[in-house]
Amino acid sequence: MQNKTILITGATGGIGKQTAMTLAKTGARVIVTGRSQINGEAAVNEIQRHSSNHQVDLLLADLSTQKGIRSLVGQFDQKYDQLDILINNAGLVESEWRLTEDGVEADFAVNVIAPFLLTHLLMEHLKASPSARVISLTGGEAKGKIDLDNLQAEHSFSGLNTYSHSKLVMMALMYEYSQRIQAENVTINVCYPGQASTNMTRSVTPQMLPGFMRLIWPLFKSMMRDDGGQSAAKASRSSVYLATASEVEGLNGKYFDTNSKVTTWPRAVLDDAAREHIWKLAEQIVS
Ligand SMILES: NC(=O)c1ccc[n+]([C@@H]2O[C@H](COP(=O)([O-])OP(=O)(O)OC[C@H]3O[C@@H](n4cnc5c(N)ncnc54)[C@H](OP(=O)(O)O)[C@@H]3O)[C@@H](O)[C@H]2O)c1
Repeated sequence: MQNKTILITGATGGIGKQTAMTLAKTGARVIVTGRSQINGEAAVNEIQRHSSNHQVDLLLADLSTQKGIRSLVGQFDQKYDQLDILINNAGLVESEWRLTEDGVEADFAVNVIAPFLLTHLLMEHLKASPSARVISLTGGEAKGKIDLDNLQAEHSFSGLNTYSHSKLVMMALMYEYSQRIQAENVTINVCYPGQASTNMTRSVTPQMLPGFMRLIWPLFKSMMRDDGGQSAAKASRSSVYLATASEVEGLNGKYFDTNSKVTTWPRAVLDDAAREHIWKLAEQIVS
């Protein structure tokens, strides 16, 4: 992986940091993003120390706003040319309905718009690579339906359900992207990392769970106790696999499960009309 440049969003903690740690060990240049300078510098130092790779850089950006996403790309433009691997890892689970400064529901902004816009704005850098990979992490239960009338939880918001729905919408959008992409040297795939104890999961409160899951709150809470990054390291394996495996070369528009096996897309993702609707909405939001 030497001479490869990898950008991982939300890699100053959780699954992203573990992904960065492993990928840095391959000798690649790894760029991690986060919002906080202090957390970011601490993470970069830790990744450099563990990997003995000093080519680990930090870029700061809040991906919940389009200004933040554009600023991240501006910083990238100034320092780097080619991008070989983009890992859309940063995700958000909100406790209540909230609009960002762009007027977009927060889960939708970070989980759907950020990977879409970032991939789009970095496309010229990806095309400059002989072989580039875009990997986006999904989450939650991907079996439900896409509710086109409630894409930004305008009619009903429900913690983890809204988060999972936004991830399903992201899957539909990235699948659509993989079908529309004109560059033969760029592939777009989605993976599911599996559960891990991270800041995200530890921020979940009983009120954010669907009713039936509140019954198993003590079990959920005990599963999410701090394990020093062990479960996050395990959950980073699918991103690492998609970034490094030679057998993935050229594979486009696939969905990989937590064991890094190609699996069928959820039925909702295969609905052409729904994908068209979501694509147009995403284009409209970022225009
Ligand atoms: N953990 C799980 O059980 C699980 C399960 C399925 C899927 N996933 C998915 O895996 C991915 C990683 O999850 P995780 O659990 O590792 O999350 P996490 O612990 O919350 O991730 C933290 C990272 O995301 C960054 N971040 C958060 N909000 C951001 C924003 N608005 N703009 C920029 N950076 C932001 C944080 O940076 P700061 O320094 O700025 O805080 C930090 O680097 C997510 O897409 C998640 O949906 C996780």
